[in-house]
Amino acid sequence: MTKLDLDDIQGNILRGYRMNNVRHMALTFGSARGACSMLGMLVNGDSDSCPQITTAQTWRETPRYCLNLGITAAGLKLLGVSNSIMSCFPKTFLDGPAVNPAALGDDGPSAPENWILGGPQGPVVHAMLSLHTNEEFTPAVDDLSAWLQALCVQNDIEIALQKDGEAFPDDFVHFNFKDNIAQPHVCGAPGKDSPDMQPASSTGEFLLGKNYENQFRGNFIADLPGRLADNSTYGAFRILKQEVFKFEKFIENSGLKYNMDPELVAAKMVGRWRNGTPLVKSPEENVELPQEQLNDFDYCPTKDNPMYFDDADGFRCPIGAHIRRMNPRSSLVMGKPHTRRIIRRNMPYGPAIKSADKPDDIERGLIGYFICGDLEMQFEFLQKIWANLDIATSGIRGTRDPIIGAQPTTGGQFIIRTEDLKDPVIFDDVPRMVVTRGSVYCLIPSIAGLKFLSGLNA
Ligand code: HEM
Repeated sequence: MTKLDLDDIQGNILRGYRMNNVRHMALTFGSARGACSMLGMLVNGDSDSCPQITTAQTWRETPRYCLNLGITAAGLKLLGVSNSIMSCFPKTFLDGPAVNPAALGDDGPSAPENWILGGPQGPVVHAMLSLHTNEEFTPAVDDLSAWLQALCVQNDIEIALQKDGEAFPDDFVHFNFKDNIAQPHVCGAPGKDSPDMQPASSTGEFLLGKNYENQFRGNFIADLPGRLADNSTYGAFRILKQEVFKFEKFIENSGLKYNMDPELVAAKMVGRWRNGTPLVKSPEENVELPQEQLNDFDYCPTKDNPMYFDDADGFRCPIGAHIRRMNPRSSLVMGKPHTRRIIRRNMPYGPAIKSADKPDDIERGLIGYFICGDLEMQFEFLQKIWANLDIATSGIRGTRDPIIGAQPTTGGQFIIRTEDLKDPVIFDDVPRMVVTRGSVYCLIPSIAGLKFLSGLNA
C-alpha cells in the first residue's frame, strides 16, 4: 500500500475535522509579490507570525483551528506560474465552472449571472481560505479572522466574500436529513473505517502523484511538475441554496396525491430515511440503526457477497434516488463499479428552518468542497451525467436527480417502483430543490506545492 506523506497533504482532503464552524474567505490578490509572501507565511511553521495551514497528520489533541487553502487557475497565473506549466492543467480546471454551466445544471436560477461567487459579475477569485473552528468549546473565529484579515491587508489581498457554515447536531443538514455518512476511504489514509461493503478508493482518485494510481490505472498528475502538484488535488467549491419550503410542500402534496407517507416520499428521493437509515436496509419502516450500520450496504450481489439482496429493479431504493445516482456502488453503471467517487466537505449555511409552513424568506443551504483528483471525471461527471441526464442506466428515463437536478420549469419526473398495482408511481411535478449560488474550482496544493508557489515572487 502507498505510504502517504501526511505532513505534505492538506488536512481537509483526507479527514473530516468534525469542527462545528467554518468561515470561507474568497481572496482577490492585489499583487504577485504580496500573494506569494502570504502563501509563504501560511506554511513557514511559525504559528506566532501567522495561522498555519493544517496538514493531514494525525492529532494527539484537537487543535484550536484548522485552516486550508485552495487556489484557482486565475490565482496560479497571477502568482507567476509559467504558461508552460499552466498548459499542463486540465481544461476543466482552467475554464472553471462558469464556462459551460448549463451542462452542469447551472442554468435558469442557477446560472452564473446570479452567483455571488465565481460568476461574471463578481470579483475575480484567486483563492479560497477556509477556517474551521469550534465556537461552542473553543471560540476562535473572530480572533483568527481578524488576524488573517490584517495579514491580507499587509499583503495587498482583498477578502472579496466571506461566508460562514455551521454544523447542525448529528450531521443533519437543511431538508432535515442526516448527512456525511458515506465518504470514500482513501488507500493509505489514516483513521478508523466504519463498516462499508465498498472497497477503499485508490489513492490516485484523490491525490495527484506519479505513484498514485487512479481507478483507470493511470494517474491524474499527467505532465504537471511534481514540485507543484505531488500530493495536491482539486476541489469544486459550491454554494448551494436549498428550497426547504418547496421540498416539504412537495413531499406533503405527493403523499396526498399518491397515498404515501410523506416521510417515505422523502426517503425515496434521497435513498435514506431522514435519520440516515438506507432504504435498501429498511425499505418500509423508518427504523433507527447504529451509526456503524449506516454505510454497510450495496444495491446488488457481488463476487464477494454473491447472496446479497438484489435491488436491480429499485423496489427498495429507487434507481434515481440521490444517493444511488451519486454512487451506484457495485451496480454496473456505465462500465466499472465503485468509480467516480468524491469526498464531500460541506456544512449547512443559514439558520435551521423553524417551521416549514411558510415560504423560505432567509437563504440557507450547503457550502463547501467536493474533492476529487479529476474535476471532469468525478465532480462534473456526477453533475452532468448522473444528476442531470437520464442515460446512465435503465429505470431513470426522463428524470433528473430529485434533490440536486436542474428540473424543467414545468416540473420534472421521479419514478418509484412499488411491487404492487401502483407500480410505477411517477411524480411529474418535481421542482428544482437546490439552486447554485456560487462556484469556483481550486487546486488544493500540497505544503511543498504552496512553498514552491510562494517562491515564485519572493
Ligand atoms: C444542497 C445540496 C445537497 C443535499 C441537500 C445533499 C444531501 C445528501 C444526503 C442527505 C446524503 C445522504 C448522506 C450520506 O450518504 O452521507 C447525500 C449523499 C451524497 N451526496 Fe448529496 N446532497 C447535495 C448535493 C450533492 C452534490 C452537488 C453532489 C455531487 C455532485 C452530491 C453527492 C453525494 C454523494 C456522492 C453522496 C454519497 C452517496 C453514497 O456514497 O452512497 N450531493 N447527499
